[in-house]
Amino acid sequence: MEIAAKMVKVRKMEMILLLILVIVVAATAANVTYDHRALVIDGKRKVLISGSIHYPRSTPEMWPELIQKSKDGGLDVIETYVFWSGHEPEKNKYNFEGRYDLVKFVKLAAKAGLYVHLRIGPYVCAEWNYGGFPVWLHFVPGIKFRTDNEPFKEEMQRFTTKIVDLMKQEKLYASQGGPIILSQIENEYGNIDSAYGAAAKSYIKWSASMALSLDTGVPWNMCQQADAPDPMINTCNGFYCDQFTPNSNNKPKMWTENWSGWFLGFGDPSPYRPVEDLAFAVARFYQRGGTFQNYYMYYGGTNFDRTSGGPLISTSYDYDAPIDEYGLLRQPKWGHLRDLHKAIKLCEDALIATDPTITSLGSNLEAAVYKTESGSCAAFLANVDTKSDATVTFNGKSYNLPAWSVSILPDCKNVAFNTAKINSATESTAFARQSLKPDGGSSAELGSQWSYIKEPIGISKADAFLKPGLLEQINTTADKSDYLWYSLRTDIKGDETFLDEGSKAVLHIESLGQVVYAFINGKLAGSGHGKQKISLDIPINLVTGTNTIDLLSVTVGLANYGAFFDLVGAGITGPVTLKSAKGGSSIDLASQQWTYQVGLKGEDTGLATVDSSEWVSKSPLPTKQPLIWYKTTFDAPSGSEPVAIDFTGTGKGIAWVNGQSIGRYWPTSIAGNGGCTESCDYRGSYRANKCLKNCGKPSQTLYHVPRSWLKPSGNILVLFEEMGGDPTQISFATKQTGSNLCLTVSQSHPPPVDTWTSDSKISNRNRTRPVLSLKCPISTQVISSIKFASFGTPKGTCGSFTQGHCNSSRSLSLVQKACIGLRSCNVEVSTRVFGEPCRGVVKSLAVEASCS
Ligand code: GAL
Repeated sequence: MEIAAKMVKVRKMEMILLLILVIVVAATAANVTYDHRALVIDGKRKVLISGSIHYPRSTPEMWPELIQKSKDGGLDVIETYVFWSGHEPEKNKYNFEGRYDLVKFVKLAAKAGLYVHLRIGPYVCAEWNYGGFPVWLHFVPGIKFRTDNEPFKEEMQRFTTKIVDLMKQEKLYASQGGPIILSQIENEYGNIDSAYGAAAKSYIKWSASMALSLDTGVPWNMCQQADAPDPMINTCNGFYCDQFTPNSNNKPKMWTENWSGWFLGFGDPSPYRPVEDLAFAVARFYQRGGTFQNYYMYYGGTNFDRTSGGPLISTSYDYDAPIDEYGLLRQPKWGHLRDLHKAIKLCEDALIATDPTITSLGSNLEAAVYKTESGSCAAFLANVDTKSDATVTFNGKSYNLPAWSVSILPDCKNVAFNTAKINSATESTAFARQSLKPDGGSSAELGSQWSYIKEPIGISKADAFLKPGLLEQINTTADKSDYLWYSLRTDIKGDETFLDEGSKAVLHIESLGQVVYAFINGKLAGSGHGKQKISLDIPINLVTGTNTIDLLSVTVGLANYGAFFDLVGAGITGPVTLKSAKGGSSIDLASQQWTYQVGLKGEDTGLATVDSSEWVSKSPLPTKQPLIWYKTTFDAPSGSEPVAIDFTGTGKGIAWVNGQSIGRYWPTSIAGNGGCTESCDYRGSYRANKCLKNCGKPSQTLYHVPRSWLKPSGNILVLFEEMGGDPTQISFATKQTGSNLCLTVSQSHPPPVDTWTSDSKISNRNRTRPVLSLKCPISTQVISSIKFASFGTPKGTCGSFTQGHCNSSRSLSLVQKACIGLRSCNVEVSTRVFGEPCRGVVKSLAVEASCS
């Protein structure tokens, strides 16, 4: 009896608990819809700021900090693609571990209080190998990618369903109480769909209804898809999207990719996008009715392993993003955008209430006013002229608007922010070289600890096979490896007409890319590289009798963009001929019987990940010879700063640290000489090649090694060097947070946006004067010296400031007094503080300070 009564009690308790649980879930589940103005969450329109972080481009250990820095920068949403090739490397064999732990990533965003936009694709572009498609997909019988093709649609549906189910299972959709407020299907198909003819239309319709059928409970978007069927929201990608309008008045104006910089390619200079222009683009978007904007990328990260797309995308995916590849804030980019976000949020009530009323304030001058019935008012004043600054009159007040800038007035009166007036200091981050002690701390040189294994030249594996003619590379390797050997024996009698004197000839090779090494009788005779076409004429010496011609073709990331990108192909497709240097006679080699080997012997034996007895540590260490595996051990650089390996001295290859692939290295790939500018004018439309640096230098010498892959000592570095290099020249570096701060604030700058409080919009202090604020980025540091300070007309940039014709003699002592010994300080930029060094001139305060 007693037991039965207890049981009933327990049951009752269980029921109550269950009920509470149901209530809690129901209470936290959010209803996400949209209307003409915005995404609507639980009945309230939202102004949202989003940023892309692609989870496999960093480590799970880095995620919490990256997400926190995003939140601190004013983001509401983290946007990520889902990387099919990483999640299903072999058909039906899934991977959601480590860097591919999508669930963990989404949960971490939720934990930080951020929403998630999940761009499932599953085609993602993204400078990711094969656009994110696993290469096995190419071999599905009858398949045609991204069109109305049954085998493709079946696979696309299967993977999309898999992801949606996983998210549902983990209750990650907002409709279930999770952070995901939006999902994307396909990616920029509208850019290329005309190449797919009529089938494109039915494919896009099918994609939409397939996605909808998965019933996520939150809206879907398609980017760059003007004909996106209802209720899919068509969204904009680009450097500017203020002119964009969605395809229905019932859809909000959304920007899914605002390119914060651009990606780097091997052989290219480094693109950067000035923050004044980026902020201008964002402000213009919200000025013109936008309510959702995403930075692509907010943190770019690293293309580890063989994930970089291409061809020829670099291993770094830094993107000049607000958070740099190593996870450090890029200043003043991050700080200026943070201020911008704050200013936009101050306008939220007015922004969501109504469409803007747009009026002209003169040629290239525009005001947008958001005014609600309840009396809140926000205004955006723009000067879209690329050269002339302007003074405009708005509501009876006068405002200074630099060329190509927007001022944000959250109360329609006072300027909280101007996109061209930066209130955040430049912080110079720098790499500190670390001389690495070899493992065990012995005083020996790191180089003396290297061992090596020579990769055989030509065919060495049992699975090599014969085929007449030249094979396309991706179809042959299935991208299991970057490497494919094309090998041929040819008998020379000595009297052939294509032979020049001394049995010399020219080997002509044509390849679709990206690198070819030609070995004649076991010796490297020549090499070349190219994106999609290589044409080589290599002078060679043949011998009478049998000659071996071994061609090693190497891919550097499979194409990820464009119509039929999956079919562009790679490798030596010919012609391949032997000819006389004098012209005339030649013989065709292409149609002969070639021997093929997919991948390297060292890849099969797993030299990168498992130990081998074949490592040779006898000196001398062979250097500057092609096709050598190298190995050494090392202690981790001290401290906790991010680590990089400087590969200067080596040629090209792939590297692993403790079995983890840190990606392809290629420090001998040199950027072209043209098009670089040190100080790019932010005014005027940005394009990917507008602002470039690093011309004539290696595209990438430094390669990120995540801290979590290192232990204090006994770390193993393995590299496969293709070209020939000297690994003993490799050095390590740590990336230091900037200890040097520079900032120039003029009398016409708005006061810091932080002087606005969000609820009342009424300043908590006098908001009329600009302030120069400095803060040491590391909490234990204080401002230890003021290297430069001038209130007047200072000239130059950080590191090279000089006084102009006008300077307050009190500048240095006042700034020193206000700042030295403190982590942060504020100095009002006014004649009240500095006196009047020159009447009738707008003055600035420029300061360079250092922290220690
Ligand atoms: C877009 C694409 C992105 C990325 C970007 C360039 O067209 O949607 O995935 O490739 O270009 O970084």
